[in-house]
Amino acid sequence: MSIKDKVIIVTGAASGIGQATAELFATQDATLILVDRDQVKLQKLVLKLKRPTNKVTSYYLDVSHSNEVSQMVQACHAEFERIDVLIHAAGICKPAPLLDMSDEQWHETLSINLNGAFFLTREVGKVMSAQKSGTMILMTSDRGLYGSADYAHYAASKGGMIALVKSLALYLGKYKVTVNGLNPGMTDTPLARGANPDKWDAKLALDVLGQATSPEEAAQTLLYLSGSASLYTTGQIIGTRLRYGQ
Ligand SMILES: NC(=O)c1ccc[n+]([C@@H]2O[C@H](COP(=O)([O-])OP(=O)(O)OC[C@H]3O[C@@H](n4cnc5c(N)ncnc54)[C@H](O)[C@@H]3O)[C@@H](O)[C@H]2O)c1
Repeated sequence: MSIKDKVIIVTGAASGIGQATAELFATQDATLILVDRDQVKLQKLVLKLKRPTNKVTSYYLDVSHSNEVSQMVQACHAEFERIDVLIHAAGICKPAPLLDMSDEQWHETLSINLNGAFFLTREVGKVMSAQKSGTMILMTSDRGLYGSADYAHYAASKGGMIALVKSLALYLGKYKVTVNGLNPGMTDTPLARGANPDKWDAKLALDVLGQATSPEEAAQTLLYLSGSASLYTTGQIIGTRLRYGQ
């Protein structure tokens, strides 16, 4: 499972699953590049993680801006000479009933979740294919498999990301680069709480374990997927558990 000495980009690192991942990975002697558009929260995390033994760099950017993403990836490659792991956890989920959804709501979600995933994996894919090693894990969602009445834009973006994971795995396999998606199940983060303001308990009742995943638990799965224990896993969408009435 070791990620010691690996160069790892974590997007969405200022909150939730990305933050828990950054905190866990910082204990593993890896070089971390933390990315988010929330400068204040990311700065706080970097200060918390910066100890003499930790190697932490941060970039404030919007993953839906192609030029910002390519500049960040190029700068990381220039500084560290390799990129071993990409954990892509930046994303949004805002409720919008299907027939009332505005063009702006649709575009915002697709642009951050799906375009952002494409911009990042394309740039990181160039580095990993040239070095003939690496792994990418994208945070996908059960909604991308099963759809969602009140989050159709989110479901479509995650469905697109699932197809992107599989396409990248097919394209990059010959370069010994692996790509997987993680559906973490309902995870107790600001995103999930914000998307289900009045329905948290009702949603939990649909979970076979009757509980939400914690961001720390999701981070443990990401650690497994980032290390050598999962070296021969690619093109997979790792689901964590069933829900009643999916
Ligand atoms: N929490 C869940 O139940 C759940 C379930 C399935 C999938 N996911 C996915 O997991 C990922 C992480 O979610 P989370 O629950 O930790 O959310 P979160 O809101 O706690 O964290 C998301 C982070 O992404 C950042 N971000 C958003 N848009 C960005 C942009 N354009 N550029 C750069 N950074 C941006 C935010 O600032 C935030 O720090 C998301 O992709 C989400 O869709 C979450």
